[in-house]
Amino acid sequence: MTVHRLRPRQESADRARPALNGAPPTDARTAEPTGAPDVPFAVTWISPEARRAAQDVLASGWVTTGHQTELFESEFAAHVEAEHAIAVSSCTAALELALRALRLPAGGAVLVPAVTFCGAAHAILHAGLRPVLVDVDPRTATPTPATVARAVVACGDPQAMMVLHYAGAPAPVAELAEAAGLPLTHVVEDAAHALGTSVGDRSVGSLSRATCFSFYATKNLPIGEGGMVTTDDAELAVRIRRARLHGMSADAWRRTLPGGRWQYTVEEAGLKANMTDVQAAIGRAQLRHFDDWQRRRHALAAQYETRLAAVPGIEPLDVPTLGRHARHLYVVRVLEEYATGRGELVDRLAGHGIGTSVHFIPLHHMPYFRRTALMPLGGLPGADALFPQLLSLPLHPLLTEQAVDRVCAELARLTPRRAAAARKQVSRPARPRSVMVHPYSEGP
Ligand SMILES: Cc1ncc(COP(=O)(O)O)c(C=O)c1O
Repeated sequence: MTVHRLRPRQESADRARPALNGAPPTDARTAEPTGAPDVPFAVTWISPEARRAAQDVLASGWVTTGHQTELFESEFAAHVEAEHAIAVSSCTAALELALRALRLPAGGAVLVPAVTFCGAAHAILHAGLRPVLVDVDPRTATPTPATVARAVVACGDPQAMMVLHYAGAPAPVAELAEAAGLPLTHVVEDAAHALGTSVGDRSVGSLSRATCFSFYATKNLPIGEGGMVTTDDAELAVRIRRARLHGMSADAWRRTLPGGRWQYTVEEAGLKANMTDVQAAIGRAQLRHFDDWQRRRHALAAQYETRLAAVPGIEPLDVPTLGRHARHLYVVRVLEEYATGRGELVDRLAGHGIGTSVHFIPLHHMPYFRRTALMPLGGLPGADALFPQLLSLPLHPLLTEQAVDRVCAELARLTPRRAAAARKQVSRPARPRSVMVHPYSEGP
């Protein structure tokens, strides 16, 4: 259930107070005439530069994949320190294209976390492969070497694995691959949440064979829709580039360049999953704001961390391994000791004008994946225990400190104070909440 309560229109954000340096407005509490929450779960901010860049492309006479896409690809590759980047229509398409390019045997088993977005499992199935669900550690919402090993027993001989950096938290890619008995050449990363994530001191982008990013409206680099595959493998990049546009040997842009020819051929199946120059121009302009937006996300996450330490029964997720968190989502667990269940809490917060979301309904809770995916013997107890607790709180660069305070105050107000506080003293010894290396001084 990624039912976000989004701010519905760009104009609403425009009415908020702009900050210095073209950064997003800092007042996200502008009154909404539409009845939308006044603390929305997410706000899509397309910067004035990005809007101008889109207009320029629209006026240029070339709006589909072309020069802007090429520039976005090279700037993005440099940003994540990868050799190659291929711009596509979505992260879902990126995952499918990356898996197809691995040339795995038809029906081959691909390990995928049980707690992920349904698009990831669709990508596996559309690539002609079989998802094998991997249980998660409820403290991190991420698979562990032990849960991977159990999934391997279920399928025998996995052909590949998809590693998710859930919420932007670094996942231990190499350890999980080792537990699966797979080389990193057979790992595809789902980095939909992970632009800005590092594992150890290495940026997510070239840790495995192919890494797939999303530019969906709520993501850390919002375009509206769009995706990117990055890789250090030149041959894989050629395959994916061809397959993103019908498998054609030359796209329309190349054919119109000086010396280009009208002929092309098709040697294998392809998708229609190219990025347009309008999207690419927006992405390039947005990328220039990215570091500022990340600083803001880290500051707000730090504020949540501090405020929520005083709220019994609301527990932020632990981070699975060392590295830098991208702070895409701020996910908490609503524990049994809290005053209400997660579902009721979502409604109560909505009643107070606070938008939230749930990431994710586990795949095996949906009939289609129960029919099509393999599951470990003994089921997925970690995912089943975690799901009723999962709650994503508002986090985006337009959020104000006052809004975070309001969310935390609402959460604190619903807590049965004395009994729960006493339990909290006992159940929460002073331990580090995470093992992150923080890039910004204000990080938690
Ligand atoms: C974990 C995860 N993977 C994949 C996707 C798919 O991204 P897109 O919407 O760009 O296809 C999403 C989108 O929300 C996601 O959250």
